[in-house]
Amino acid sequence: MSSKILIIGAGGQIGSELTTKLREAHGTENIIASDINTRNLDLVNSGPFEIIDAKNFNAIKDCCKHYNIDTVYLMAALLSATGEKYPMEAWDLNMNSLFHVLNIAKGGTIQKVYWPSSIAVFGPTTPRDHTPQHTTCEPTTVYGITKQVGERWCEYYHKKYGVDVRSLRYPGIISHKTMPGGGTTDYAVEIYHEAIKNGKYECFLSENTSLPMMFMDDAIKATIDLMQAPAEGLTIRSSYNLSAISFTPKDIYESIKSRIPEFKITYQPDFRQTIADSWPSSIDDSVARQDWKWQHSFDLDTMTDTMLSELKKKYL
Ligand code: SER
Repeated sequence: MSSKILIIGAGGQIGSELTTKLREAHGTENIIASDINTRNLDLVNSGPFEIIDAKNFNAIKDCCKHYNIDTVYLMAALLSATGEKYPMEAWDLNMNSLFHVLNIAKGGTIQKVYWPSSIAVFGPTTPRDHTPQHTTCEPTTVYGITKQVGERWCEYYHKKYGVDVRSLRYPGIISHKTMPGGGTTDYAVEIYHEAIKNGKYECFLSENTSLPMMFMDDAIKATIDLMQAPAEGLTIRSSYNLSAISFTPKDIYESIKSRIPEFKITYQPDFRQTIADSWPSSIDDSVARQDWKWQHSFDLDTMTDTMLSELKKKYL
């Protein structure tokens, strides 16, 4: 019998592309997409879809039972910038959705869980360059706190109850299909859209703010590779450091400008600057590279080429 997979938060930036990739790999009928709303019509119309509020334990449980789900990807979350505006909502969604899925998995019906963590688990006291897998984590955002605590619970459920939960600390993810929402790294997506649409961009981070980033194709590959890796090889059950590229707003601007010479940028840092300043500028992901042979493919220039050619198809 083929695996039945539920994706919670399938309408989001990562969830939408993960759904497409998993449907290609396992067959559309085996991938149940779910989200709290039906805004992403491509998703709703392209295969099995259920409306699920990730905060609703019974909705998740009933769906798992109905479809005989054995694997859950929990992609619903409030990100860093939105979390600072709505701290209690971020805590409520990010923590309770995780508990719901872990508790259903503990009951034995779900065999495998994927839950994303983030570079937001780190904070101002963390070493900023080549941040190691095991290091000081004193996050200063609500989002970061939920991810750090979530990591502890994942490891706990694995050790105590044998739940096969796997996780990655995503850096900022850049993609052209679905817009991100409410993150501090979102500028690195917006900048490409604005370069094509308006030829100029006002950046909410300062020009030399270096952050770890990754192109979507690499993020999806990492996610699926980790989920397919043999359990015995996995030494981390909290969340793996994951890295591809690091760049500043100035670097990405220059990469775009070399292809669109008239492109202009201005800098107007807002409250997200403080968040970015508390995060690492680069990540040491050697444990992931060793345990499950993680390798990225996209650098800044190959990403810029892909982003610009895909967005030109959309806008021009
Ligand atoms: N992209 C996320 C954010 O900026 C980090 O995980 O909030």
